[in-house]
Amino acid sequence: MIEITSKNVVDLIEDIFLRRGAESYLGEQVTMAQHMLQTAQCAEKAGADIAQIVAALLHDIGHYKNEIPESSFAKGVNNFHEEAGANFLEEYFPASVVEPIRQHVAAKRYLCAVKTDYFERLSEASVHTLNLQGGPMNEKEIKEFENNDYLDHCINLRYWDEEGKDPDREHPPFSYYRPLIDSLVKN
Ligand SMILES: [Fe+2]
Repeated sequence: MIEITSKNVVDLIEDIFLRRGAESYLGEQVTMAQHMLQTAQCAEKAGADIAQIVAALLHDIGHYKNEIPESSFAKGVNNFHEEAGANFLEEYFPASVVEPIRQHVAAKRYLCAVKTDYFERLSEASVHTLNLQGGPMNEKEIKEFENNDYLDHCINLRYWDEEGKDPDREHPPFSYYRPLIDSLVKN
């Protein structure tokens, strides 16, 4: 694997989208690229800032296990995709991008615990993974989660994540979002 730097990281990300975007998103009607591009589109339509749009676009990058360095997995306490993706991206992007990505599974567990109508939004596959991910948060977990500096961003991303699973929706290509990603890379 070539060495990843702040100069080539966006090329690498684009390459993953173009080469592997057509793969299916487990149990959903959309491909991985459709899902991530639609999630970004939802963020943009909601008037979100650039960091939130980029977080939405990249939130599932950790599903491409063998595309990101093994160290991104080794760094964390588990091998879960949200943590691996965040560990990879944190070298190159600010916390405003990385933190909502790291928390996007926790945000689902949080919302299932605190918002009675949220559970109904979940797709069948998302309900299935919720159970594997520990189910709704308990009181202690809820309090901890609410301490996050990016709490609102984490929650927003989760709603867009659920929304970005429509096989019939048109969405912009990766190239449309590329300048936004480039603008946030840390030097
Ligand atoms: Fe997702």
